[in-house]
Formats: sequence, C-alpha cells, structure tokens
Amino acid sequence: MGEAMHEPSGTTIPRETVVVRPARSADLDAMAAIERVSFPTPWSRSLLASEIAQTTAAVYLVATIDDAVRGFIGMWYALDEAHICTLAVATDQRRRGLGELLVLAALGRAIELGAEAVHLEYRAGNEPAARLYEKLGFELVGRREGYYSDTGEDAILARIDGLDDPAAREWLVQSWARWRRERSLNATLMW
Ligand SMILES: CC(C)(COP(=O)(O)OP(=O)(O)OC[C@H]1O[C@@H](n2cnc3c(N)ncnc32)[C@H](O)[C@@H]1OP(=O)(O)O)[C@@H](O)C(=O)NCCC(=O)NCCS
Repeated sequence: MGEAMHEPSGTTIPRETVVVRPARSADLDAMAAIERVSFPTPWSRSLLASEIAQTTAAVYLVATIDDAVRGFIGMWYALDEAHICTLAVATDQRRRGLGELLVLAALGRAIELGAEAVHLEYRAGNEPAARLYEKLGFELVGRREGYYSDTGEDAILARIDGLDDPAAREWLVQSWARWRRERSLNATLMW
C-alpha cells in the first residue's frame, strides 16, 4: 500500500496504488474481459494480442491495482502524430480517475515519442468519453456521420495540438498534480 490519507476524524485510510505500465501477454485475458463489457463490437483477444505486439508503432498501457488489470489504453503513432485507438476501464472501477490517468499517461508517452498532436474519435452518444476528453482539453474538430457501422452512430473527432511546445510539458505536470489532488489513489508510472 502507498501513502496514507488522513481523514478529519484522525482515522487513517491507506491509499490504493495504481500502476500504469506497458501491456504484456499475461494481461490479455483481463483486457479482453474489460473490452467485452465496454464496447458494442469488442475487439477479440487475438486482435488485442497483435496490437500489443506492435511495439514500434503502438503504445498499449494497462492500469493495475493489486496486480489486477483495471483498465487499458492503446495509442498508435507515426512521425509527429499519435492516435488514441482504444480506452476502457473495468465497470466496477469507473469514476475513480483511471480513465483520466491512462489518457494523461498516453499523452506523456506521446510527448516522449515526439508527437505534436494526439487525435481520437468517440461515439457521439458516449457522454463519459466526451466529458473526459473535454476535461483534458481536447478540442472538437469534426464529426463523421454514421461512422460506427454496428450502431450507425456518428463519430466525434477530437485532438490536442502543440504537444511539442514546452508549455505542453508544463501543462502535463500541472495535470498530474491536479489528478493527485482530486483522486484518492496513488499513481506509479513504470516504463
Ligand atoms: C470512458 C471511460 C474510459 C472513463 O473512465 P473512468 O475511469 O470512469 O473515468 P474517470 O474516473 O477518469 O473520469 C474522468 C472524467 O471523465 C468524465 N466522466 C467519466 N465518466 C463519466 C460519466 N459516467 N458521466 C459524466 N462524466 C464522466 C468526468 O469529467 C470525469 O472527471 P470528474 O470525475 O472530475 O467528473 C469509461 O467510462 C469506459 O471504459 N467506458 C466504456 C469504454 C469507452 O467508452 N471508452 C472510450 C472510447 S473513446
């Protein structure tokens, strides 16, 4: 357990620690289970396996608590652009900050990899995703009608630019600090 959190009453509640690290083969069962309950047309375990093996073109990170995978994010990158291609958090772990933590971690990796921009798309009816990306400063840049063939929903396109600016690094540091203030978890990034 990590650092303790002191309640006004004087009782001490130990903070759980969430570790963010690259995904590995042993994570695939847990990732596929989260995937199945998170998306109308989930990616298969074998597709996830081929994704996490693409280490020169993709970054896949998992968030674990007590060594169990609670969420993951996938990001493709090429030249100076990166694309967040998937993000999911276990249903019983949502609203704890894990989704936000994973996006911040991916943005940090994108900066390290030399990306100037990170883009993504989400279903027009996906309010949690919309609020999450809005909170993190993604700008809405477009809409693709009927993009999702399974439900016919539109895709909302969003992006963050200027990641090569030193101000972006400062923004990320501030975002980490805000995350720590807002959440009752410790976070450790390992890569
Ligand atoms: C979207 C998803 C990853 C969010 O993960 P999460 O760990 O619950 O999100 P967080 O706890 O980090 O929330 C961060 C912010 O996102 C927004 N948010 C998250 N869930 C929300 C919800 N149900 N309703 C409204 N806003 C929500 C809020 O702004 C929140 O900040 P706040 O807690 O200060 O209000 C999660 O709901 C999920 O896995 N959904 C299914 C898969 C999916 O839609 N993935 C995104 C595809 S683009």
